Amino acid sequence: MEKLRVEGGKKLSGKVRVGGAKNAALPALVASLMTDEPLHLSNVPDVRDVATICRLLEHLGVGVERKPGGEIITNVDHLTSCEAPYDLVKTMRASFLVLGPLLARTGQARVSLPGGCAIGARPVDRHLSALARLGADLRVEHGYVVAEADRLRGAEILFDVPTVGGTENCLMAATFAEGTTVIHNAAREPEVEDLANLLISMGADIEGAGTDTIIIHGVDSLDGAEHSVIPDRIEAGTYVVAGALLGAPLEVTHCHPPHFEAVLDKVSEAGVELTVGESSIRVTAPESLQSTDMKTQPHPGFPTDMQAQYMVLMTQATGSSIIAETIFENRFMHVPELSRMGADISIDGHTAVVRGPSPLSGAKVMATDLRASASLVLAGLVASGPTIIDRLYHLDRGYEGLASKLSSAGADVERFSD
Ligand code: UD1
Repeated sequence: MEKLRVEGGKKLSGKVRVGGAKNAALPALVASLMTDEPLHLSNVPDVRDVATICRLLEHLGVGVERKPGGEIITNVDHLTSCEAPYDLVKTMRASFLVLGPLLARTGQARVSLPGGCAIGARPVDRHLSALARLGADLRVEHGYVVAEADRLRGAEILFDVPTVGGTENCLMAATFAEGTTVIHNAAREPEVEDLANLLISMGADIEGAGTDTIIIHGVDSLDGAEHSVIPDRIEAGTYVVAGALLGAPLEVTHCHPPHFEAVLDKVSEAGVELTVGESSIRVTAPESLQSTDMKTQPHPGFPTDMQAQYMVLMTQATGSSIIAETIFENRFMHVPELSRMGADISIDGHTAVVRGPSPLSGAKVMATDLRASASLVLAGLVASGPTIIDRLYHLDRGYEGLASKLSSAGADVERFSD
């Protein structure tokens, strides 16, 4: 099994290029279920989750042609199945997004429940209640959601708490519903807006994506389209934190800074010098970092997907930082591993207190989820001595070429096989 070795203490300089957003590419690929015409997607990252969704789409009858340079062309002659099997859904929760489009397009769908994952129970109850409001007949059988509907009908939908996947599922289903749907308290994440923009370019009638109220006027069919996936704000944020720790300076390019302002604000509050351009950020590590408190929140607040990486930054800051995780109930699994490297972190429920600065020392550590793995890489970059990161497949779910990108910026990072 492949592992990552990081030899810490090297300054980072030059440029690191951000790829397309995994979390925008996944729903964009799912949208291929909604048209008979080709969908040309570009800036799709070459990561494992994209390969997983392509496998699922192929299982459903979508032709998927992957070209070098992040281009994917999809084509549907006819859908061959309405079932998303457990083996494909269990490895990636985003597979559940096929439920809305399949149901809206064919009138039926059988999609495995995703089950829990390492960062918590992560139910799909809000996806289901939204689809029920659109008129779907839903039942759970043998671990699968079985959904049927003659034709979905537009409705008023109120999410009690915003959900990214729930909003996306509902957006796709409502596109083919009869009449108008209004989603209240919709997720405002840029990836939701990117999906809406893609659907609009396919012929959908959607207003308000990117705000908390989305209005969808149903249409009968969608055309093909060409669409470039937005840059990955979490990958960009991860490299900004790397630059905040070791940038001499480091320039993070091909990103969209307005998509992760909350991260940039926190990093500059910690005393980091940032020069923010239209699509790039130059980051210089300061002599010393100041601790700042942080709370994860739905967009435009601080993203939960950057919590673990930000925590590493705080291990190097002077003072105590209180980090509150409000989105997921079990998202501090990186803490024991960071503690083994010398970090001083205590957890009380949903809150972690990080006291710094702590000199970190390299160790053998285990990745537990995607963003936790990124935090271990960052910790390895500032630690003394080698850090060996096991279970690299978590990292490969969402970071394209992380080792080579960091190496080209001066880090001593390499993948190796046991
Ligand atoms: C998406 C992102 C993920 C990110 C998360 C929050 C993708 C592929 N993944 O995940 O990287 O961490 O947004 O920004 O885009 N919940 C329910 N019932 C539901 C749905 C959600 O209780 O039906 C809860 C979840 O358990 C979680 C919270 O709502 O506590 C937010 O989840 P949600 O926004 O749905 O996250 P995902 O779409 O799964």
